Amino acid sequence: MFSRYRKDTPPASDTPKRDSRAVPVHEIASVSPSAQPTLTPQPRPAAPPQRSFKATPKPAGISAQPAANDKDRRRKQRILEVKSELHTRLLDNLNLAALDTASEAELRAEIASISAEALSEINFALTSEERLTLNQDLYFEVRGLGPLEPLLKDDTVNDILVNGPNRVFVERNGKLELSDVTFKDERHLLRIIDKIVSAVGRRVDESNPYVDARLADGSRFNAMVPPVAVDGSLVSIRKFKKEKLGINDLVGFGAFSEEMAMYLEAAVATRLNVIVSGGTGSGKTTTLNALSSFIDNSERILTIEDTAELQLQQVHVGRMESRPPNVEGKGAVTQRDCLRNALRMRPDRIIVGETRGEEVIDMLQAMNTGHDGSMTTIHANSARDAVSRLENMIAMSGIEMPLRAVRSQIASAVNLIVQASRLQDGSRRMVSITEVTGMEGDIITMQEVFRFERTGLEPNGKILGHFTGSGIRSHYSDRFRRWGYNLPSSLYDVV
Ligand SMILES: Nc1ncnc2c1ncn2[C@@H]1O[C@H](COP(=O)(O)OP(=O)(O)OP(=O)(O)O)[C@@H](O)[C@H]1O
Ligand SMILES: [Mg+2]
Repeated sequence: MFSRYRKDTPPASDTPKRDSRAVPVHEIASVSPSAQPTLTPQPRPAAPPQRSFKATPKPAGISAQPAANDKDRRRKQRILEVKSELHTRLLDNLNLAALDTASEAELRAEIASISAEALSEINFALTSEERLTLNQDLYFEVRGLGPLEPLLKDDTVNDILVNGPNRVFVERNGKLELSDVTFKDERHLLRIIDKIVSAVGRRVDESNPYVDARLADGSRFNAMVPPVAVDGSLVSIRKFKKEKLGINDLVGFGAFSEEMAMYLEAAVATRLNVIVSGGTGSGKTTTLNALSSFIDNSERILTIEDTAELQLQQVHVGRMESRPPNVEGKGAVTQRDCLRNALRMRPDRIIVGETRGEEVIDMLQAMNTGHDGSMTTIHANSARDAVSRLENMIAMSGIEMPLRAVRSQIASAVNLIVQASRLQDGSRRMVSITEVTGMEGDIITMQEVFRFERTGLEPNGKILGHFTGSGIRSHYSDRFRRWGYNLPSSLYDVV
């Protein structure tokens, strides 16, 4: 059969045909998707949760699966092998240059035809459903990111975390689950990683074992390959959400209370300098993005990020993304470079996606010198911790400054620390809002104005609690009033 998507002289005849049934035993993944234990939390018994040091029984292993499952597993494994065989054939047979211009329908038709031919050749019968899935998977291998593709398309998935070819975890609703997606083997996984990084002109191999990149859809991507990754390549993807969560969504999800939202609106609108602090995946960037909605449309905002994730709604936004060095180690543009340049670009506000290094100096200086209302996030576990992290970053940047001077710089730059947290039930909440009020001696003084008060745990593991004021009026109350934000003092009441 002739097709412009097939090579003129298919090399199939000179490539020795591999009998896909004869895959060496060591190549067969030892764990099948269906037999993998799930990390999804099981409903807890109604009894109050108690700490127990007893070893929890392990989920049933493969050997304990019934025979029917075993058969099922073998068939799935066989299909995986066939898929890999067919994929090799596709690459041999398809004219890759013509593929770029092929429409989705044309390519799908071509794949269906090549796979039908190959299946009949190796005499392997599939149900029509299996055949559809196989052709879909092959399409994703050729056009997309292989087994990752369905997860990338699944809107309920926030993060995709790959620990070697047989373990692909996903995060849904703040909880990690083992998915039933697997790669055929490490080579398959490496091929997909390579596809991603080469598309953005990067390389990953033994000499450059890790890489940061952005997928075409904006998702954040990080990979580390063996031998640095000991048990197979590690991949982390933070999915890009087109619909960013806004303040109302966050209030609706219980991430913070309406009172806190009112307070934060006043704080951002009156140009307090805000740091959103939190652990990894706690919702810092989401919060920063939501807070930015309180910025007036007339302001000129410059954003600086390692991976552009923020999506500001204002008219006047300039976005910058730092750049790692190229393969020769040249051409790096750091966040600090961007920040220094940003100061010459007449910004009203500067937003740095995450302060994690030497740019801290310029960030604090910007906050202190006319670019008030600037915002950033920082990786820390509490407001106090966030301040220590800032001190450490300044110390690490090589600037010789007495600790007192460092602290007074921080105290006058930072007005507010919003602490985000991912609680153990998977929910993400602003667990505290703390104001920096000044210095007493060598100590930076702070006061908490709102916090999440945890009261208990439901039998299903859900955390019970509510938001409350601390009973202390905001240090910035007068400022709020002067700017026209008359927040009632009852806002800060203890509830
Ligand atoms: N309050 C929330 N409720 C539900 N989902 C949320 C909430 N906040 C954030 N998320 C989701 O959680 C994921 C992680 O959020 P985000 O990227 O803001 O975290 P982060 O702290 O910036 O992570 P990192 O440390 O990796 O930069 C995103 O997919 C986001 O949509
Ligand atoms: Mg982030």
